[in-house]
Amino acid sequence: MPKGSGTVTALCRPDNDIIELDITKKALAVGGTNMADKNLIVYYSMLGNTMAVAKEIEKQTSFTAQRIEEYKVRKRGNLIGNAMGAFLGFRSKIRPMDFLISDYNNILLGAQVWAGKTTPAMNTYLRKASFKGKKVWLFITKADEKIPQGIIDSMTDRIEKKGGKVIDSISITAGFDPKVETVISQEEISAAVHEWLVKNGFLS
Ligand SMILES: Cc1cc2nc3c(=O)[nH]c(=O)nc-3n(C[C@H](O)[C@H](O)[C@H](O)COP(=O)(O)O)c2cc1C
Repeated sequence: MPKGSGTVTALCRPDNDIIELDITKKALAVGGTNMADKNLIVYYSMLGNTMAVAKEIEKQTSFTAQRIEEYKVRKRGNLIGNAMGAFLGFRSKIRPMDFLISDYNNILLGAQVWAGKTTPAMNTYLRKASFKGKKVWLFITKADEKIPQGIIDSMTDRIEKKGGKVIDSISITAGFDPKVETVISQEEISAAVHEWLVKNGFLS
């Protein structure tokens, strides 16, 4: 079974609706939380889709959310430049974070796919953050409908090499049109996010 499996794929653009939910795998056995656990949402988002998922998780759980921010000012129109940085595995300078993950047991980490890879900001975060002893849940947005298994595996590898444990992931198809500024709405993803949070013991 691939790493970080138990993935829920939700195709959430208005014309697709939610067409696939696969929630049968291992998270119920090894995931879940208890009352003493402290949970932190951490995410990077350039276009706003991953932020919409983070905000929906925040809305449903009241967990604290922390956005990863770069010093670099990116232009959404610079598709080739942005994609190339990700494709080549670059890291970018990120701003200091307000919340230390050492204060939390569970990290819900939000990323996206750029050129089939993680973004430079996420590469830096994965390099810098101390995941020792943390349980991590991944939420990933992308344009392709297929599950971004390469990203899930690569993030899982990097987190687990640092002593964390990836419990489960959800991937959400949010689309991408470089010419149109559209962001997935929280309403579109609310049901899929809720189902994933219940499955993983964050909500009853
Ligand atoms: C530079 C760039 C490259 C992208 N490459 C891919 C890709 O290879 N595969 C894919 O499914 N989506 C790709 N996308 C779409 C994004 O993954 C999708 O829009 C995601 O929701 C963006 O996250 P954000 O809105 O939080 O920034 C790309 C988007 C950008 C801006």
